[in-house]
Amino acid sequence: MNPLSGKHIVLGLSGGIACYKAAELARLLVKAGATVQAVMTEAAGQFITAVTLQALTGRAVVASQWDLREPNAMAHINLSREADAILIAPCSADFIARLAQGRSDELLSLLCVARPIERVPLLLAPAMNREMWAHPATQRNLMQVAADGAVSLGVGCGEQACGETGDGRMLEPAEIIEELEAFFTPKRLAGERVLITAGPTFEAIDPVRGITNHSSGKMGFAIARAAREAGAQVTLIAGPVHLPTPRGVARVDVHSARNMFEAVEQHAPTATVFIATAAVADWRPAAVALHKIKKDGSGAVPQLSFVENPDILAHVAASPRARHGQLYCVGFAAESEDLLANASAKRKRKGVPLLVGNIGPATFGQDDNALLLVDETGAQELPRASKRELGRALVQQMAERMRGRQ
Ligand code: CTP
Repeated sequence: MNPLSGKHIVLGLSGGIACYKAAELARLLVKAGATVQAVMTEAAGQFITAVTLQALTGRAVVASQWDLREPNAMAHINLSREADAILIAPCSADFIARLAQGRSDELLSLLCVARPIERVPLLLAPAMNREMWAHPATQRNLMQVAADGAVSLGVGCGEQACGETGDGRMLEPAEIIEELEAFFTPKRLAGERVLITAGPTFEAIDPVRGITNHSSGKMGFAIARAAREAGAQVTLIAGPVHLPTPRGVARVDVHSARNMFEAVEQHAPTATVFIATAAVADWRPAAVALHKIKKDGSGAVPQLSFVENPDILAHVAASPRARHGQLYCVGFAAESEDLLANASAKRKRKGVPLLVGNIGPATFGQDDNALLLVDETGAQELPRASKRELGRALVQQMAERMRGRQ
């Protein structure tokens, strides 16, 4: 289940051109299962209308402390008591300054001051010109606001509406959603350092050709995101895939199985969990031609011979740290038939405590999957669901098993 499902979010908009992105953000929050109550400052009303937000959230927007639709005329109390979180997006430089001072002369800052501080988190998505962001007053105010218990989600870097380039853009709506989902996820993997391989590998034949497979990397990326949400420090070693890096995850791009093996060897000594989701090519061409292999017109075909690639998972699982329980190893099995028998045999062969079986052809490239978890006690199904949901479910299952081992 999405961690935002059933949450009630007060979405506060202060003045800034990034207000146009708040519409998309409201839509994504609703899609994730949250209820959204939009609150706008007067300045926000210069950039986006209440009609837009009301239509997207299905709730009347509140913009004034003196809104007489509230039966008790206490919008600041009602709104802040109902919220599971208050998210200010966009949060302008002026609004940060107002928060730093504890101002309460308009509804949005008033309800931030009035919120029960222990129970209702205040999350900020700042948005402003790069000079405003870098200004010592803004940074000073932000530090004060953080010391008072608010959480800044950070800013993006890049081209700004004003034409300048630098830090200060509001995070994209999807990035804010990622941060929020992480915020609401129990920190089951706190303190863990998780290393994940994902995607296919590419084994070169010559400078323009190679051998690869249909793995999209989506399952591994979803697990990386879920592990980070659960509080782990995550390194993701990715074969050639076109997927955005989950927020807060360190990514290392590799091509061949041997590149992946080297990257894993470099990171495994400091990891506490290793999850091998990559569809690693079992063989590579014995020799890579220096130049493109050309047809010679005679109809003769090139003769390729292969050598076996290192088995990354088996190698890591056999390391002393894994054998002494300091590195928990999880393998995947991409099968085309007889999942339980193949996965159980593979678990033993690879020497891992947990092996996750899936039917490769049914899931490669798809957004959903079904998993079969095989450990020493037997097998457990995680029924068909989105890879995002399965990633979260798997992290939960792993965390339980790891706790059981301590
Ligand atoms: N794996 C690996 N290095 C390899 C091959 C596989 O780390 N050279 C890992 C995969 O990431 C996965 C597990 O081993 O976690 C099983 O991969 P899979 O391709 O299903 O199995 P294989 O070991 O290749 O065995 P087979 O081809 O016989 O099914």
